[in-house]
Amino acid sequence: MRAPRKKPTRKIAPDIAARLGHHFSLQIQPDGNIAAILGDYSVNLGQFSAAAMDCARHLSTGLPLASFAGKSALARDVDALVHRLARQGLLEYRLSSSRNTQDFVVIEPQVPEYWPRRAKLGSRDTIVLSRFAFLRRRGNELVLESPRAGALFRIGDPAIAATLAALSQPRTIGKLDQKTASSTLHLLELLLDSQILLKLDAKDGQGLRVNEGDGNLVLWDFHDLVFHTRSTEGRQANPVGAAFTYAGVVPPSPAVRPPWAGSKIDLRKFSSPEPNSGFPKLLRERHSTRDFDDKNPVTLGELAQFLDTSARVLSEWKSEPYFEGGPDVTYSTRPYPSAGSAYELELYLTVANCDGLARGLYHYDAGSHALVAINASPQQLQAHLAAAQFAMDAPGQPQILITIAARFGRVSWKYSSIAYSLILKDVGSLIQTLYLSATDMGLGGCAIGSTNIDLFAKMTELEFHIEGPVGQFALGRGRTPEVQG
Ligand SMILES: Cc1cc2nc3c(=O)[nH]c(=O)nc-3n(C[C@H](O)[C@H](O)[C@H](O)COP(=O)(O)O)c2cc1C
Repeated sequence: MRAPRKKPTRKIAPDIAARLGHHFSLQIQPDGNIAAILGDYSVNLGQFSAAAMDCARHLSTGLPLASFAGKSALARDVDALVHRLARQGLLEYRLSSSRNTQDFVVIEPQVPEYWPRRAKLGSRDTIVLSRFAFLRRRGNELVLESPRAGALFRIGDPAIAATLAALSQPRTIGKLDQKTASSTLHLLELLLDSQILLKLDAKDGQGLRVNEGDGNLVLWDFHDLVFHTRSTEGRQANPVGAAFTYAGVVPPSPAVRPPWAGSKIDLRKFSSPEPNSGFPKLLRERHSTRDFDDKNPVTLGELAQFLDTSARVLSEWKSEPYFEGGPDVTYSTRPYPSAGSAYELELYLTVANCDGLARGLYHYDAGSHALVAINASPQQLQAHLAAAQFAMDAPGQPQILITIAARFGRVSWKYSSIAYSLILKDVGSLIQTLYLSATDMGLGGCAIGSTNIDLFAKMTELEFHIEGPVGQFALGRGRTPEVQG
């Protein structure tokens, strides 16, 4: 008897379609412009032809990317509209298989430039999951994320989760089971483009930690890179900052902790209310200043003094190797403390208004006490300063915005598991030093809790995992309150 012929597997190519994010709709404005609307919020997208608008209507359910990939005037018009929506973070992308009309995967962009691209895979290619990839429950959905990826993937079909689990070990495409390979190849190509999957060459070994990315990436622990990208703006689409998300569920904690029930030693009779040095006075005078006097900006001389007091390298030295055959390690001493004496923090100054110093971006070379200009575009400078103004809810931009960036590898070369947490603690001690120096000089300053790490990477052309923002401080001459007459 002849064996029954194997049924040919149908190639099920998932279609990628762009779709407007939840709750957004498109509206033609009276002046002919198209706007994306969410409640009272509206984003103007510009003017488009009536035919383009007709196509755009499909964005509420899903407009296949292939439908406007051509070179016709209409395709170009629709393409411009869709890209504009994408840059505003208003789109997601659904993948469905031709067998099933349900979304089997939805891609949620996390950076404005994300566009679904497939990195080609052939049957001889070997792939494995990145060690930074993780699957987790979000609400009632399963999401696949990675701090390296420009998008996260909502997984609608449990079979895909099983395929991903199998990719914890390197697998060759040709050896994946046929059904899996044909139904998920496009998805695997999208995941490869997003660095959620790696393609391995012979030199890449098993795709383990030392085989993924450059030396700087090797030094990152998984939780540290997730923490860095998910705890500030730039590489994620979640709301950041004072969103009061569960304020209706959990009451606020009190300003001062209720005392323990044990016996109390009243310290008031031991400490003097009168300061016996200038330091307590300086501490009590320190406060945040968000409103700056732009008619009397900080001078270059004051800035030089401020940096000298708070951040200059005071001396340099070298330690013996930590282990046999290890390198000598160089160290420095500076005015503020730093875990392990690492001094990984760098100051980048975005100067908006400083007497004697041109508007622009500068790096403070703490070793030679000098400022080095960095080419950043006027638009980037404006966006960076405007974000700081917004974060402070201030009436104007800071005169000088100091971005504290970490050379992450300086700390993680030595410390495992606690590297990122040490860096954030170092930021705290530097910020207090900046506050006190500013106060002592009669200047004003304010810490800023969140920075756009993606914008900084573009301004400096430094990769986000090599050196990037971990804190900010706005500096300027505070406006003297007008005397009421
Ligand atoms: C880590 C940190 C982050 C902060 N982030 C912001 C911020 O994003 N926007 C802002 O206006 N103030 C920010 N502040 C300033 C605080 O709001 C301020 O220190 C606090 O209200 C106490 O007021 P004072 O500094 O005047 O004593 C930050 C302070 C710290 C220490």
